[in-house]
Amino acid sequence: MNSILIVGAGGREHAILKALLRSDRPLCMYAYPGNPGMEKDGCMLVDKKINNWDELADWARDNEIDLTVVGPEIPLVEGIVDSFKTKGLTIFGPSKDAARIEGSKAFSKELMKKYQIPTAEYDLFSSKSDALRYLEKKGAPIVIKVSGLAAGKGAIVCNSMEEAKRALDEIFDAKSFGSAGETVVIEEKMEGEEASVFVLTDGKTYRILPVSQDHKAIGEKDTGPNTGGMGAYAPAPVVDNQLLLEIEQNIVVPTIRAMDQEGSLYKGLLYVGIMITKDGPRVVEYNCRFGDPETQAVLPLVSCDWYEVFKACALGNLATVKWSVSSGYCVAVVLASKGYPGEYEKGKPVTGIEEAEQTKSNIDVYHAGTAFDENEDLITNGGRVLAVSAWAETLIDAIGFAYEGVAEINFEGKVFRRDIAAKGLTRLKKRV
Ligand code: AMP
Ligand code: GLY
Repeated sequence: MNSILIVGAGGREHAILKALLRSDRPLCMYAYPGNPGMEKDGCMLVDKKINNWDELADWARDNEIDLTVVGPEIPLVEGIVDSFKTKGLTIFGPSKDAARIEGSKAFSKELMKKYQIPTAEYDLFSSKSDALRYLEKKGAPIVIKVSGLAAGKGAIVCNSMEEAKRALDEIFDAKSFGSAGETVVIEEKMEGEEASVFVLTDGKTYRILPVSQDHKAIGEKDTGPNTGGMGAYAPAPVVDNQLLLEIEQNIVVPTIRAMDQEGSLYKGLLYVGIMITKDGPRVVEYNCRFGDPETQAVLPLVSCDWYEVFKACALGNLATVKWSVSSGYCVAVVLASKGYPGEYEKGKPVTGIEEAEQTKSNIDVYHAGTAFDENEDLITNGGRVLAVSAWAETLIDAIGFAYEGVAEINFEGKVFRRDIAAKGLTRLKKRV
């Protein structure tokens, strides 16, 4: 029996767990810190207090963990992979050096410039006066980004000079982003539809997963403030085979090679955020991990032994792994707490999850912001509470099934977008 530790506590990590459990391989699953949904699916939660990644690595060694899979970016950027490897443990994810591709936008922009990977034109700044001078020269619209990690809030799309100046005040004067804002990227605003390209790699060989599309805004038709993601679907028809080939040749392959040449061999999941501009696909950002909620829509489409795949990425033999992508579509709809992404209440009883999973055979409900109360009843405990994901042969059916599942689940203040994957459906209808 193989023992696996999943690091993280969100819907993405729950989706990774369910994907691992779909193989016939007997597995003993642990999570740190995990969530109630993962626990319900038979995952044991690490109950020891952990102060740093070295301590978690010690725990993994003492508990004979064969493989650790890391979900979120913070442990990766902090060097969890290096801590585990030093102790002789196998872990899926990039090293601290390689995770700079997400942890430092200054690093990733310089990488793209050096290796001619298409992205928005930019410059880097560490002083407000220089940044202002550049801003005056370029004018609005323009995009201002802090270089460091900022929980998805570090890119400010400014449509006027006033907004741009306000962003610089926030970063340099109010220091709202702390040390993440010490270096700032100012770049050209790109126009186009976005897509999330997930690439599994052992540093040399790679596999591209079905391309997905996130829905970042809280409101329908992409209105209102940005969230961590209100839903996703895959495969996204905006990226057809020709475009995917272009992305592979001009972006994926050069990025993997560039990381190797820079001495930061990239192993793990490389998430390339793409904007499909009128001049072709360009990189918006790289992430050093699976996306959330895209993972909940992508993994159900792939048939493989994920234990074998993750291990092969870590050990450098991905080329030997068997793998197939199923036909059909998967749609994941996020259920959030009222008020999210602003302030929201917690502690509302959640019902209907089992009913949702029983409406059709291909529906999964992934936990993110949930907890058990003192009576072991499920309550809300976060902004994004759950994601309902459904697979079907056609996109229209996958959408219908996902929303049938959504209708079964109840908690006070349940908020969700009713237009997840609508963009994809419109595009498919235009094709016929
Ligand atoms: P990032 O943190 O770099 O992923 O950016 C978050 C979001 O901001 C992206 O998903 C885009 O919607 C938007 N964005 C970032 N950079 C640009 C850009 N150069 N042009 C237009 N939109 C952008
Ligand atoms: N869904 C966007 C992200 O995971 O960064």
